[in-house]
This record gives sequence, structure tokens and C-alpha cells, in this order.
Amino acid sequence: MDNFGHFDDASREYVITRPDTPWPWINYMGTEDFFSLISNTAGGYCFCRDAKFRRILRYRYNGVPMDAGGRYYYIKDGDTVWNPGWKPCKTALDFYECRHGMGYTKIVGQKNGLKAEVTFFVPIGHRCEVHKVKITNTGSSKKQFKLYSFAEWCLWNASTDMENFQRNLSTGEVEIEGSVIYHKTEYRERRDHYAFYGVNRPFDGYDTDRETFIGMYNGFEAPQQVLAGTSGNTRAHGWSPIASHRFDLELGAGESTELVFVLGYVENPQEEKFVAPAVINKKRALAMLEAFSTVEKADKAFAELRAFWDNLLGRFNVSSDVPELDRTVNIWNQYQCMITFFFSRSASYFESGIGRGMGFRDSNQDLAGIVHMIPDRARQRIIDIASTQFPDGGCYHQYQPLTKRGNNDIGGGFNDDPLWLIFGTVAYIRETGDFGILNEPVPFDNKPGTEVSLLYHLKISFRHVTDNLGPHDLPLIGRADWNDCLNLNCFSWNPDDSFQTTENKTEGTKAESLMIAGLFVAQGRDFAELLQRIGDKDAEGVKEAVKAMESAVKQHGWDGEWFLRAYDYYGNKIGSRECEEGKIFIESQGWCTMARIGADEGLCDKALDSTVKHLECEQGIVLNTPAYSKYIYEYGEISSYPEGYKENAGIFCHNNPWVIIGEAMAGRRDDAWRHYCKITPAFTKDQTLRKVEPYVFCQMVAGKDAAKPGEGKNSWLTGTAAWTWKAVSESILGIKPQFDGLLIEPCIPLQYGTYRVHRKFRDAVYELEIKYSGKKGGFYIPYKPGVQKLTVEL
Ligand code: GLC
Ligand code: GLC
Repeated sequence: MDNFGHFDDASREYVITRPDTPWPWINYMGTEDFFSLISNTAGGYCFCRDAKFRRILRYRYNGVPMDAGGRYYYIKDGDTVWNPGWKPCKTALDFYECRHGMGYTKIVGQKNGLKAEVTFFVPIGHRCEVHKVKITNTGSSKKQFKLYSFAEWCLWNASTDMENFQRNLSTGEVEIEGSVIYHKTEYRERRDHYAFYGVNRPFDGYDTDRETFIGMYNGFEAPQQVLAGTSGNTRAHGWSPIASHRFDLELGAGESTELVFVLGYVENPQEEKFVAPAVINKKRALAMLEAFSTVEKADKAFAELRAFWDNLLGRFNVSSDVPELDRTVNIWNQYQCMITFFFSRSASYFESGIGRGMGFRDSNQDLAGIVHMIPDRARQRIIDIASTQFPDGGCYHQYQPLTKRGNNDIGGGFNDDPLWLIFGTVAYIRETGDFGILNEPVPFDNKPGTEVSLLYHLKISFRHVTDNLGPHDLPLIGRADWNDCLNLNCFSWNPDDSFQTTENKTEGTKAESLMIAGLFVAQGRDFAELLQRIGDKDAEGVKEAVKAMESAVKQHGWDGEWFLRAYDYYGNKIGSRECEEGKIFIESQGWCTMARIGADEGLCDKALDSTVKHLECEQGIVLNTPAYSKYIYEYGEISSYPEGYKENAGIFCHNNPWVIIGEAMAGRRDDAWRHYCKITPAFTKDQTLRKVEPYVFCQMVAGKDAAKPGEGKNSWLTGTAAWTWKAVSESILGIKPQFDGLLIEPCIPLQYGTYRVHRKFRDAVYELEIKYSGKKGGFYIPYKPGVQKLTVEL
């Protein structure tokens, strides 16, 4: 079994020791509104605020070879040309290492007595990437060599950049001044932004015209200027602008030199755009370059970035006997939650950055992973999301991050959506105690003058379910529920239809969802508790509606051994033993057991047993079984996938934690733990099979029916991050935020039952020593500011 790297927990890094990973293993940089994706060979791109409309570097998705384009440094040493990150030249290196850390990536390459260390990071408070390049002559004699930088500009709109060539190939414009290359395409007209790539010393040559630098029929691996040791000193006009600096360097034995490159983005007020006709105002760019004009300044900014992450990740730490658990909880899971919060589902190596906006349901769920770290931003996000809601409680399925407006192309009608607003808000208030958010004025569909309180939005969210019940008194599914592919009101034979937006069965719809039913009961209980806590008389009505839903589920949603998944348009069962395929589904088992529906009658235990028996496989719990082997047109997208992938019997990691929490609520600690270990990447044994990064969760792992069960896909941006965080921190380790304190209620195998937790909660710090020997009921600690040391024996 090949191994491509290992964890370095003390540095909070993952160390990749071979560049030819089974898939590019990436990292993210950025904390505010300038973000970068960077692979272990320095591939990727950056953007400001919006990955579609403000794309700075060009990137070609799904290219051949894979992961082409990025910020490349080339070293020409005699006849040898190489890159510290191996790609694109792929010259065999004497040493290679890539360290992905919190918001930065360090790549080290060594060849023929030269060592190049490149530290990439996005500093706090600046819209740029800083690349600190250190080259050392490790040999015993003097060396002369050349260093080239390289980046290719995207013409801002990442979508038209890939389509509209009749225009694009005539718009490119740059300026070169000092050692800075400015990319100013379309700045002459309406754009008020430009990008730049500069360095803190004079260069010996440069290029901005791609064809001159690379050569018409060469690839990134063989730029003709680098091969020849020259530069064309070109100014791009039209065609494809790039940026490359050349340095002719000489180093004595043991000597080093360091350069600081800045790849940045600037916005200018309209009236300050130009300093002379056609000459851009460079003031802001020069200020940014000045901020990193020395190695010391760059190092200081790097230290600030580290402190930022130390602070965030220092709010929850566990120290147990299981290193995989500790590193997941203390480092990578929390980090991934932050990244997912920043990016939603927009830009990864599986999401092109030009597709989706922010999902209503996705963004609410993401909150659960970050609210303990950045409560203020969670608060703002809740208001943003709620502001896209309609007066009847329904909502747009997505909104655009740049405008914060609902996205009309996708529309609404996903009937689980509104309930997630209750989920997100409850998570926020439990963490912060900020009940005041409930009184915030929040508009409908962003229309000024329509403001009502956030609390009112929560009430209509709840009511949106009770206003839309079907023939079995279960929630109507609408276009789909959490499972975007259960499109029970879309009957499509047209391959050009989008399953997401087509809803052609609108009359007399009766398709109902047990997943929404479970979600409603679970969220309804929390909502009732919240209302009671603030003395709102609607609490009773909410409780009654919850009770009614419970009986509807018991009466019409129980299949004998497990919970049904849905009723289709015709009122036929989905996820029943009566079905030929898709007899059992995970979502309703997860939600109905989390909601403890029928627990007293043994339904939850039975449903969990059935989940283990039918859905669990070696790498996790599949979504449904048996997988659909053919397209069923009244079901929609679900059966469009081949067996074992995505919503058709893939291990959709996002919903595995629902079962983990359900197991924990039933006190089944060994089952909960086993499910957790299976989906958690730190426990991965076979990196080649898993393929994607061993330090982050992925949305989907191929299920037992796929060609290669265990292959991971869609890493990074997934609800799995927040849900696994919730499952491990609250259900397994048992640290449960309540409206007025913390409830300690672990559910972990007894052999790991002794551990310590450091938990910052509001203005309190809890240093907990937990000794768990299986006692039920939990231990409640009322909130009190200050430091509290406690031993909790249960
Ligand atoms: C994707 C979507 C999410 C959906 C899930 C299941 O992860 O982002 O909204 O719930 O797929 O279909
Ligand atoms: C597809 C995917 C689903 C995703 C959706 C988003 O339906 O299968 O996972 O949520 O697209 O548009």
C-alpha cells in the first residue's frame, strides 16, 4: 500500500512526501474575502469575494493532465529545469515535501544542490497571496541559475473566460512598472479592479504574453523562454495575458537568497481609477507591496495568520487516547468547517466556482460547525439567509454571495429548506446565549419595508411544514427534500431538463417525505424549548404539532423494521420492504431516530439495527439499498446515477452523522463509534483507494455497489464537516451547548472513556476531565463566566 504523507499534529500540518498523489491534494488560503485554492504541486487559483465574477487566475477544470495551471516557480540550473512542487515540469526531485497548514502551504523541492522553499499564504487584512521564496545552495561550490515566476490571468468572469473567445482574445491588457506586472483587462471600461504580481527586487527580464513565454505548441512543462534561459520582455495586448519575472541568480556554497512575491487584487473608487489617460492608479497595489517588501514583514504577517488560527482552534480541544480522534477534533474537522463556511459549495476541485450560489439549507447546516469559533459571522449569516425568505415561510433554494439576493434560476420549493433556519438559529443561540437575535428586523426577499422579527421568520418556517401536509398528514416533499435527487414531482424523459428546477407535476401533488417529518419533530422540540425559554405562548402549539407528526410517522411511516423514506406522487411507498429496489434509506432512519420517534415502542432500536444490517458496509453507511439498477422516471435524479455513487447507494458522508447521533441518543456507543471511525479520514488505511485528501471529509465515498468501493469524491465542501463536528463534539465526546449552560453527556466506547476537554463557551473556559463508565443522564453545568476546572464522572 502506498503512502503519500502523514500528519504533523504539533504544527497542525499534513505533510505530503510524494507529489504524485492519487488526486491533487489541496488546501485553502484566505480568511476574509480573498481566497485561494492550492494543490500540493502549487496548482489552483485565487479570487476575491466571488469565484465566478472576480476570478484572478485562470484554471482549467478536469484538464489533461490533471491540475494544470497555478503559481509556478521554475528553476533553470544548467540544462535542468525543475519546479519546487514537481509540476509542471515533473523533473524528478532529490527531495520533495508539501506541508498543508492552517491557511498556508509550504512546498520544498531540492535538485542538484539547490533547495527551494516556497511558503504561500493569504495574509490577514490584505487581498493578496504572498509567496516567500527561499533558495539555498546546499552544494560545495558556487552556482549560477535562473528563477522564473509564472501566473496566468483569468479575464475576471470565470464562466465567459472559458466560452467567449471571439471577444476575450482581443481584450487583454497589462501594464509593467518597476518589478510589478499589472493585469487590467476591462479596467478601461466598467471594472474598477485590477490584479498585480510583484516582487521585492528588480527583475532581469519578464513576460506578459503567453504565446511568447510558453510557445504556441508547448505546455506549462516546457515554456520556451525558460528552456532558453531568456525572457521576451513582452507586453500582452489581446490574446492571453500572463505574468512572469526572471531573475539571474548566483549563490555561493551554503548561501541563501529570499524573495517575496505578492499576487494581489485592488479595487479603486471610480473617480480614482486613472492617474493619466490609460494609466491605472497603482497607489493601493504599491501600498500592499510595501507591506511585504521585506522577509521580516512577510514573516510577521505569517505569524499573525498562525495566531489567528491558533485562537480559533483553541476554543475546543480534546486530549484522549486516540490520536486520530484528537487530530480530527482539534485540527482538521474544525478547519474544514471554517473552509466550508467561507466557500459554501462554490469552489473546490469538484465544484468549479461558476455553478452554485449559497444554499439555504447548506449554509444553515454549516453554521453548526463554526458558531463556537466565529459567532459574529454566524449571526450575520443567519440574517442574510433569513432575508431571502418569502412571507409564506418558503424560500429561495440558493442566494448569490455577491448580492445576497435569492437566485431566481433555481427558485424554491425544496420543502426541508425552511426548517434549517430553525436549526441554524437554535445552534447559534445555544452557543452564544444571544436571544436578542430573535428581535432583529429581517425582510422578506430582501425587500425594504417588509421587515419582521427573526422570531417571526422561525415561526413561519415551522408553519410552512404544517401548511403543506399530504394525505398521510406527513410533510409534502416539494421539489425535493435534503436529498436533492428525490424529485418526486418531476417526471422527465427529456435529457435536457434539469432535475433541480423541473417540477411538472404540480396538480394534486401528494409526494410526502419521512425525512422532513423526522427533521420537523427534532427541530420542533428544540423550537418549543426555545419558545418556552423566552416565554412565548406559541410553545404549546408547536408541541402539539410535533406530537401530531409523531403519530403520523408511527401510523404511516413505519415499515415493520425501519422507517419508510417517502410516498411518491401516486401515494406508493419508497424505502419499503415492498419495493423491489431502494427498500431502505438512511435519511429517515437518521432523522426519525434523532427525533426519537417511537423510541418507547422500540422503533428507534429496530431502525438502527436495520441500518447496520442493510446499509452499513466497510467504509460507512450507504444511502439506500438495493441500489437502483435502472432509471425510474417518477423518482427523478436519484436513479440516474450508476449503482454505488452519490444519492444512489453511495456513502453520502453528510448523513452518516445523523445515524451516529441517533445511535448515541439510543446509548449505543460502540455502534456510534464504529460509524464515526469509518467515515473519518484520519482513520483511513489505504490512501490510494481513498484517492482524495486524507485530512478532510468528502461528500461521498463510493458504496458497496460501485466499481471501487471506498473511493472518495467531492472532498472539502460538504455538510459532512459540520455534521461530523456536531456528532463527535456533542454526541460522542458529549459536550452539548444548552440555552443556559453545558450538558456533559458522552457516548464513547468505555475503553476511551477517560479524556480531557478544554472548551471555551461564551465568556467561560471549562477545563474538563471526563471519566465515563456508561452512566446515563448527563451532567449539567450552568453557564458562569471565568475558568472552571471540573472532573465529571458518569
Ligand atoms: C449536496 C447538496 C445538499 C444536498 C445533498 C444531498 O451535498 O449541497 O444541499 O442536501 O447534496 O442531495
Ligand atoms: C446533484 C447532486 C446533488 C447536489 C445537486 C446540487 O443533484 O447529485 O448531490 O446536491 O446536484 O445541484
